[in-house]
Amino acid sequence: MPEGKAVNKMFAGIAGRYDLANHLLSGGVDFYWRRVLTQMVKACRPREVVDLATGSGDVAFKLRDRIGTEVPVTGLDFCEPMLVEARAKRSAKKSYSDIAFEFGDCMDLPLEDNSVDAFTISFGVRNFENRQHGLREILRVLRPGGRLFVLEFSQPDKWFCPIYYFYLKLILPWVAALATGDKSAYDYLAGTIEDFPSKEALTEQLTQAGYETVEATGLTFSIVAIHEAQKAQPK
Ligand SMILES: C[S@@+](CC[C@H](N)C(=O)[O-])C[C@H]1O[C@@H](n2cnc3c(N)ncnc32)[C@H](O)[C@@H]1O
Repeated sequence: MPEGKAVNKMFAGIAGRYDLANHLLSGGVDFYWRRVLTQMVKACRPREVVDLATGSGDVAFKLRDRIGTEVPVTGLDFCEPMLVEARAKRSAKKSYSDIAFEFGDCMDLPLEDNSVDAFTISFGVRNFENRQHGLREILRVLRPGGRLFVLEFSQPDKWFCPIYYFYLKLILPWVAALATGDKSAYDYLAGTIEDFPSKEALTEQLTQAGYETVEATGLTFSIVAIHEAQKAQPK
């Protein structure tokens, strides 16, 4: 798994062009993935939501649009230049003004035990230095009955793999290099995507970390998946 300091440095280097690269490389499908994610969060009617590895804040903003101003939304990230981008975008809409964007490392969350109803993390888990440790750390902070929603790359349907991996390895790093000036960051992206577990394997890892129920939903030929994992209620 990647080393935390190197991940932090890499995102600091591309922070200013991250959004452009994101939308360009996904052909805009990332808007749809975030829409589905926030619909699922809304359906569980949380009292508050913390968006981990929030980056430039797009999930936090979408959450605010979808679940209204009564539900507090906070974005945490360990990369200050990404938080600077999120804070700059916050001024675009009045209803975003109370979204807090703060420093928070998923390996050691600055939050109390059993204190949060719902966590989202979109394209963050893949970058964890120690995945099991990070998943357990989130579980520590979740309230009993609370939910973690993980939006992450997955292993696509078999028939789609040849086209997908051709794009991922041979096209994406070059398009990304043009958009961000940093080809190595996107070589890293392609490598971590290829190594990331399938829906079934991530479900198993969440269960091992201690989550009680885990449901996985594949999107766009399972290029990505959303895992909804719940912390057990006291008996
Ligand atoms: C690919 S970006 C995703 C940003 C955003 N969630 C999105 O969907 O566009 C990954 C983010 O994870 C953050 N990150 C990676 N490891 C982290 C950790 N251990 N704690 C907090 N943030 C982390 C990086 O700084 C970066 O902003």
